[in-house]
Amino acid sequence: MELVYTIYLFLNLAPWLVLGLPPIWTQPEQVHLSYPGVPGSMEVTWTTFNKTDSTVEYGLLGGRLFDLSTQGNSTLFVDSGDEKRAMYIHRVILIGLKPTATYVYHCGSDEGWSDVFYFTALNDSVHFSPKFALYGDLGNENPQSLARLQKETQMEMYDVILHIGDFAYDMHEDNARIGDEFMRQIQSIAAYVPYMTCPGNHESTYNFSNYRNRFSMPGQTEGLWYSWNLGSAHIISISTEVYFYLDFGQELIFRQLEWLEKDLQEANHPENRAVRPWIITMGHRPMYCSDDDQDDCTKFDSYVRLGRNDTKPPAPGLEDLFYRYGTLIMGQPVYNGSMEQPYVNPKAPVHIVTGSAGCRERTDKFNPNPKDWSAFRSTDYGYTRMHVVNASHLYLEEVSDDQNGKVIDSIWLVKEKHGPSAWL
Ligand SMILES: *[C@@H]1O[C@H](CO)[C@@H](O)[C@H](O)[C@H]1NC(C)=O
Ligand SMILES: *[C@@H]1O[C@H](CO)[C@@H](O)[C@H](O)[C@H]1NC(C)=O
Ligand SMILES: *[C@@H]1O[C@H](CO)[C@@H](O)[C@H](O)[C@H]1NC(C)=O
Ligand SMILES: *[C@@H]1O[C@H](CO)[C@@H](O)[C@H](O)[C@H]1NC(C)=O
Ligand SMILES: *[C@@H]1O[C@H](CO)[C@@H](O)[C@H](O)[C@H]1NC(C)=O
Ligand SMILES: *[C@@H]1O[C@H](CO)[C@@H](O)[C@H](O)[C@H]1NC(C)=O
Ligand SMILES: *[C@@H]1O[C@H](CO)[C@@H](O)[C@H](O)[C@H]1NC(C)=O
Repeated sequence: MELVYTIYLFLNLAPWLVLGLPPIWTQPEQVHLSYPGVPGSMEVTWTTFNKTDSTVEYGLLGGRLFDLSTQGNSTLFVDSGDEKRAMYIHRVILIGLKPTATYVYHCGSDEGWSDVFYFTALNDSVHFSPKFALYGDLGNENPQSLARLQKETQMEMYDVILHIGDFAYDMHEDNARIGDEFMRQIQSIAAYVPYMTCPGNHESTYNFSNYRNRFSMPGQTEGLWYSWNLGSAHIISISTEVYFYLDFGQELIFRQLEWLEKDLQEANHPENRAVRPWIITMGHRPMYCSDDDQDDCTKFDSYVRLGRNDTKPPAPGLEDLFYRYGTLIMGQPVYNGSMEQPYVNPKAPVHIVTGSAGCRERTDKFNPNPKDWSAFRSTDYGYTRMHVVNASHLYLEEVSDDQNGKVIDSIWLVKEKHGPSAWL
């Protein structure tokens, strides 16, 4: 960025007035990574405010800087607020990366380059034991866990970050400037590891357009629902929001269900399930919770769980589908509100409700009388670490940012048998 210093002489006192020019509008910003789901690939996404080329220059760490170069393209995103602010979202997919190799990169064009970042190409072995950080509800204001996540990510504690809905609070606000500011805030995490997302209720304004345009997830659904594999896990991301914003299209419920059933069938194909036995689903709204508010999950007949009968035709919910295909849901093993055994060879999907990394809404209060299936609760700000160790063992721990990073709960989930037959 170029700064221009202007000097004013005023009443012989000669105070200094320093003016900054606006940024060069072709300067890349809001750089973030995502995994396209194809071994050896990585996608780089960023924003400029004027149209420019989309190039990523990169090279192996320790090798010659920027000896590789890949082109992509940009799409024009016009926010629907009064100012109709326009920006270009650039996307470049890098392919042919060497698994576990670390690459140094920058992105942009000859009209402006980003800072230099690095990432490690994901190990594509089914025996790989990936480590995740996962959370929802991270805002532009009061992003309490951000500093801890920045440092832990840069220390390479995580292979992937999962942000399970509710960004920025809210990305469309102030004519999408809150979205810009939030994407700049998470660059310190998301430019180093794939940042995988799903939509939450805070993204709903203008039909989720800020969400759909700013992120780049696998598949052709603008990040609404998709799946991908890592290590021994098949990871499914869904939009629970299709059950709540019927004005944007009831057909989305059915399109997602149809896709999901196909995806689960494929993942359950014996040869697929044998190598990727963990099926992990992430979605913004839990089916079960013990909050003391009127959220969907506080009701036994939650829309996400059981579906809606006020649509034509009635829209089935998701619980039966996940149960039938033997899935882990981002907990306790719960089906139909009953709890079987805890975490060694559970007889039903396990649900993990992990929330608030930090936002302006503070945390909800709990219902003083939780159901039996509620195993552990905390209203601290924080996030979850998940380690998919091997085909039978998965470790989860909850980090409290309020308690300076203390691990306040942890479980080993052990499943010697996967798939629907594991419930018997
Ligand atoms: C560049 O972007 C700025 C900010 O969005 C806008 O005001 C200006 O019209 C754009 N210029 C061109 C040539 O597109
Ligand atoms: C944009 O880039 C993507 C990935 O390289 C490619 O699949 C797509 O065809 C390109 N679109 C245009 C309009 O060039
Ligand atoms: C990927 O992970 C597996 C399992 O830990 C390991 O055996 C393999 O060497 C790793 N691949 C590379 C290229 O390091
Ligand atoms: C909302 O967005 C979805 C996904 O792009 C699209 O299928 C749907 O038609 C949109 N709804 C409206 C009312 O524009
Ligand atoms: C329709 O669903 C509501 C809750 O979603 C439930 O209370 C009601 O019993 C259902 N009605 C019928 C006819 O199934
Ligand atoms: C689920 O619970 C409902 C209401 O408690 C009950 O009517 C139904 O039979 C149960 N279904 C199964 C499969 O246990
Ligand atoms: C899976 O990981 C667990 C926990 O580290 C270990 O006890 C178990 O032996 C491993 N299983 C296999 C087959 O390596």
